[in-house]
Amino acid sequence: MAGPVRRGTRNVPGRSYRRWVIEMRTLTKRFGERTAVDALTVTVRSGVVTGFLGPNGAGKSTTLRMVLGLDLPTAGTVAVAGRRYAELDAPLRTVGGVLDPTGLHPGRRGADHLAALAASNGLSRRRVAEVLDQVELTSVAEQRAGDLSLGMRQRLVLAAALLGDPAVLVLDEPINGLDTTGVRWLRTLLRRFAAEGRTVLLSSHLMSEMQQTADHLLVLHAGRLIADVPMQQLLQQARPAVAVRSPQAEQLRRLLTGRGAQVVHNGADALTVTGLDASRVGEAARAAGIGLHELRGEQPALEDVYLQMIAAADGRRAAAGAA
Ligand SMILES: Nc1ncnc2c1ncn2[C@@H]1O[C@H](COP(=O)(O)OP(=O)(O)OP(=O)(O)O)[C@@H](O)[C@H]1O
Ligand SMILES: [Mg+2]
Repeated sequence: MAGPVRRGTRNVPGRSYRRWVIEMRTLTKRFGERTAVDALTVTVRSGVVTGFLGPNGAGKSTTLRMVLGLDLPTAGTVAVAGRRYAELDAPLRTVGGVLDPTGLHPGRRGADHLAALAASNGLSRRRVAEVLDQVELTSVAEQRAGDLSLGMRQRLVLAAALLGDPAVLVLDEPINGLDTTGVRWLRTLLRRFAAEGRTVLLSSHLMSEMQQTADHLLVLHAGRLIADVPMQQLLQQARPAVAVRSPQAEQLRRLLTGRGAQVVHNGADALTVTGLDASRVGEAARAAGIGLHELRGEQPALEDVYLQMIAAADGRRAAAGAA
């Protein structure tokens, strides 16, 4: 761990974290011929949860590793609060990182892992007990990391990230392996961190979870940023869908299709309709004497908009390659 450490200066909730942004400027990482991250320029703001999306191999982990000083950029810069990770006085107090839990030493006890991190960052032993309690690992703290379940190892990595009560949290697929209680706990923690004004950057492939957790989204595609957009703005692009249940579902499907809607069966008596709003569907059914058991407008799904965005980017890339 780098640099001299200021002791006894934990961040106080409610203090201003506004300057703790993550700034990437033409950030680039090449592995041989392959460009994993391609001139990424973006500012990750404080006070919101920023979701980091992109297909497998898009470059998310490589980007997050560069934020955490674990990979060096080939070109460009990344800074937290205006400084490179290696220049931070007390890295764990500034940035907490959650990366792949397979990186844990399997022979090391959870409590010892945290104690070593605490010692090298000038943090108290008391803080180790606090974070173990926070992630509900106290009872297994003396077990070796290799003997812990996947979800428990994930919690241990989270505990390490929280140790310095950091202003910035960077999390690479932190939900994988967590049980339902853990998923909800983490979502609540990240929302609270953002509400306190801290900076949260989070990657995940779980779109429904991302939709509930993130305020803002960055989407990476083949190393390039293809979206930097508030969640609400993105969801407005989704075509609203209407869920209908009717004992005459097939008759209703033909009726609505005839009026220009796109209709798919969702089981024997259930339909999902796009292209007509709920009131028009209801009116059409009533006029035709078709009974309805259910009629409701569905929440636009991040998954749908995201998949459209990736398909469009795939198309542009294929066209550029063919040209
Ligand atoms: N150490 C490395 N050496 C060579 N290539 C690498 C290395 N790390 C990553 N890559 C390559 O960089 C690209 C981006 O990988 P990265 O792990 O950042 O993607 P990702 O968006 O995190 O994907 P996933 O969703 O699967 O986690 C991939 O093509 C990958 O093969
Ligand atoms: Mg990854």
